[in-house]
Amino acid sequence: MSVVTEAALTGLKAVYDRDGWCEISYRFTEQAVTLLKERVTANSQERWPEVVYEKDSDTVRGIHGCHAFDEVFDALVRHPQLVALAEELTGRPVYVYQFKVNLKQAREGAAWPWHQDYAFWSEEDGMPGAHAVNIALSLDDIHEGNGPLVVLPGSHRLGLLDLPEKEPEGGSDWQQHVAADLAYTVSEERAEKLAAEYGRVLITGKAGTVHAFHPSVVHSSSGNISPDRRALLLITYNAVDNAPENPTRPEFLVTRDSTRVTPVADDRLGLELLPPT
Ligand code: SIN
Ligand code: MN
Repeated sequence: MSVVTEAALTGLKAVYDRDGWCEISYRFTEQAVTLLKERVTANSQERWPEVVYEKDSDTVRGIHGCHAFDEVFDALVRHPQLVALAEELTGRPVYVYQFKVNLKQAREGAAWPWHQDYAFWSEEDGMPGAHAVNIALSLDDIHEGNGPLVVLPGSHRLGLLDLPEKEPEGGSDWQQHVAADLAYTVSEERAEKLAAEYGRVLITGKAGTVHAFHPSVVHSSSGNISPDRRALLLITYNAVDNAPENPTRPEFLVTRDSTRVTPVADDRLGLELLPPT
């Protein structure tokens, strides 16, 4: 294991288990971030279903599943340090369940209401347990004004909250899992009560920084009211023995191949340790 991995993983699982999120002590280099951003731009310009737009607009909100056909994103999901991180935090061998880049364009990007990711994966896909982890990589500098993720630390320990009545036949439309009017939300009222009890954390940081968060942690993000774009790349690794049996959502939202991901080092995707705080 590299020095970077060892330093980053020490004591991390205890923090993650307690808080449902954690900050990683390395970041991707500027060169790596530039390359990843180039691929985001290229993929965003395609009119395929994997590209999702803001409501009634041509503004790109997110791109999905591109690791399946973009060799740079494929290299990223196989990054040995990211795979080691995911396996450390879930405690199990993992595969890539979902890949997306959520773009909040300057002054246009809409909010994500309070929700828990595991509500979607359990209700829509039949994921047996919350044995997955989100790895979040900031591709832009993320600050208070451009719609950072907000998490309620410790809320993952409550399990699933406020699920609506089961959707009629066939579940909800997948568009409702990537749009501002989400299918499964935690009510504002409930979230405010939880925030008073658990506190709230804004996940901010320079481009290249990496965080992890739990499938059941309650989170949201507000609209981008700033002149700065906010691009957040999210890889969800799921435990190999926790793959849903018969998912029906499109493959760009739910990977069907649950073979353990093979780590492959790639010189273009370098890491550097963050200076100690
Ligand atoms: C966001 O991009 O701000 C929301 C991400 C998420 O809900 O997982
Ligand atoms: Mn989410």
